[in-house]
Amino acid sequence: GKIKITASVASQVMLADGVYSMWIDAKEITDQSMPGQFISVYTGDSSKLLPRPISICETDREKGLLRIVYRIAGKGTDEFSRYRTGDPVIIMGPLGNGFPLEAGISGKKALLIGGGIGIPPMLELAKNLSCTKQMVLGYRDELFLNEEFLPYGDTFLATESGTAGTKGNVMDAIREHGLQSDVIFACGPTPMLKSLRAYALEHHIECYLSLEEKMACGIGACLACVCKSSEKDDHSMVHNKRVCKDGPVFKAEEVEF
Ligand code: FES
Repeated sequence: GKIKITASVASQVMLADGVYSMWIDAKEITDQSMPGQFISVYTGDSSKLLPRPISICETDREKGLLRIVYRIAGKGTDEFSRYRTGDPVIIMGPLGNGFPLEAGISGKKALLIGGGIGIPPMLELAKNLSCTKQMVLGYRDELFLNEEFLPYGDTFLATESGTAGTKGNVMDAIREHGLQSDVIFACGPTPMLKSLRAYALEHHIECYLSLEEKMACGIGACLACVCKSSEKDDHSMVHNKRVCKDGPVFKAEEVEF
């Protein structure tokens, strides 16, 4: 189960403007983490700031290291970006359900789709899915992590600015290259997940969406992450789900936007 520890920063580099990659020495969490899970990272002054939920980008089990790739989006993440090798970092994890690896069994063709800061968790998934996979990565403009996907399959890019790959979003790239799949795994901004959900339902493709963009505290305390679920009980009441506790990964049919 999840644990809260004071870990230490193994290394940190900037990958793109405002996007950082940090390796953390945290064997206790690394040992049990699954692709698509996340950790909560606490700031030095946790009385004022809630921890930030950040997805696990990669793990190195042998060395007991885990990697997060995140964008500076406020005070907390700005503080994290200034950590140096050897600095303490308080983290809790692994949190959330993660992607179902059994959905990507051999013989199937999977599409792994990441948008912006939803790209990092797709890397650990790419490393751990045994079936054939293709990646579609969507960016506003500046690329990051894209080359690290190359060992795992064909990797298609989309940029809003048109500087690399398809000009447009991940759906435009899927159409341009006529990409077919039996199962879709995706993480990214809500509009992207919304269109992927519609696409998957229309084409009867099994589809798993990570809604991590909706998280705030990451620990079930703030209720900022509640999403509508299509699951109904005996009285036809719609059940709401907490993304951080029941997710962040949901089957496309399970959620409504
Ligand atoms: Fe706060 Fe889920 S993010 S309750």
